[in-house]
Amino acid sequence: MSFNTIEHNRTRQNFDGVSSIWLFGYGSLIYKVDFPFLEKRPASIRDWERRFWQGSHDHRGTPGAPGRVVTLIESPGARCKGMAYRVSPKVFEHLDVREKNGYLRFATTMTFDDGSHGEGLVYIATEDNDAFLGHAPDADIARQIAGATGPSGANSEYLLRLADSLRKLGAECPHTFAIEDHLRSATENPSR
Ligand code: SIN
Repeated sequence: MSFNTIEHNRTRQNFDGVSSIWLFGYGSLIYKVDFPFLEKRPASIRDWERRFWQGSHDHRGTPGAPGRVVTLIESPGARCKGMAYRVSPKVFEHLDVREKNGYLRFATTMTFDDGSHGEGLVYIATEDNDAFLGHAPDADIARQIAGATGPSGANSEYLLRLADSLRKLGAECPHTFAIEDHLRSATENPSR
């Protein structure tokens, strides 16, 4: 599947007669809220884990030096914490452009912090998209992030803002925090 998922996403769900829908965000959608929303609630989804396995050629890197951003990987029993927004379907016209580098909208059930549930959508970059990079050791991922910048800014800013937001949400994400530690110690000890 090519990098650009805009046209693909437009045909994936039918919003006829739908006035609002939940969107689950687990990456930059937690801290960069450049879209209108009707309601916002911390939430989690089951059986998925956050991983810095997706390449970013358009936001936090370039085609020559892609950055790394998060996607979700199936993991039975896991819980991924994030932020849910109730939005008008019109918002997806903007989000499909923002998330065009390999992300597709999938239907998901989310659990809000009070234990109630909502049905909605989540953007996931699956392994078959051309920008998918996959697993690498945490230190290598941190090095790649430290060296990448794109039109939306430094890749390190994406990582650090996400890690801060996850702490504020009380989310456990050993993967993100380990990469953050590598990045911080490389910045503090550049010769290492
Ligand atoms: C998300 O935040 O839910 C998707 C990935 C990203 O935009 O960072």
